[in-house]
Amino acid sequence: MNPRLRLRPTMLSDLDFVISVELDSHNLPFITPWERTQHEGAVRFPDFRHFIVEGGDEDARIGFVILQGCRNPHGSVELKRLVLQTKGQGLGRACVRLLKRMAFRDLKAHRFWLDVKLLNTRALALYASEGFVEEGRLRESVRVSIDGADGYDSLVVMSMLDREYRARVALEQEGDDLAATDGDRQ
Ligand SMILES: CC(C)(COP(=O)(O)OP(=O)(O)OC[C@H]1O[C@@H](n2cnc3c(N)ncnc32)[C@H](O)[C@@H]1OP(=O)(O)O)[C@@H](O)C(=O)NCCC(=O)NCCS
Repeated sequence: MNPRLRLRPTMLSDLDFVISVELDSHNLPFITPWERTQHEGAVRFPDFRHFIVEGGDEDARIGFVILQGCRNPHGSVELKRLVLQTKGQGLGRACVRLLKRMAFRDLKAHRFWLDVKLLNTRALALYASEGFVEEGRLRESVRVSIDGADGYDSLVVMSMLDREYRARVALEQEGDDLAATDGDRQ
């Protein structure tokens, strides 16, 4: 059965939750946490979309998403951040599909892109299996500390183009209508 998700705009009153999710030790190795003021800016600034991900029968908060470049003149929209507290239940895949639909259908993106740390095998596998193409690697561009040892990790840049998305939809690779956003309800 497909998991159902809902995206709703993040409110300033959600930012304690957002920051706690970012700082969770299960997520911290894979992201660079923001200051509260950066989140506040992303909530307010129209080039960003900041969403709370809700799921389950009671629409509990299970994570958050940030898109950047929503007003980019080149139609290049970035999946800036995706963090889910409930892992390994297919919610990440459902969320990525919903975000692709939002990027290409609603925001009319030409290119939907992201970067992901090379050590983040789960996210890499998810994005590759959802049709994102590796564009290249930014070698040793982020500092990492694992088990007390400091070093660098590389960022893998991945993207999907609008024609690639349309081909996936035509081939029914984008699945059912999995989820809803507040925009769908209006
Ligand atoms: C990355 C993340 C969004 C994925 O969401 P999720 O709900 O855990 O992922 P799903 O259950 O939908 O799994 C999707 C795919 O990821 C891969 N995957 C899942 N768990 C994995 C694991 N432990 N190791 C390697 N690959 C894994 C599988 O390919 C899986 O597909 P499959 O179950 O059909 O084989 C989520 O785990 C998360 O928030 N992680 C911490 C923050 C983060 O890394 N964000 C992304 C930064 S770019």
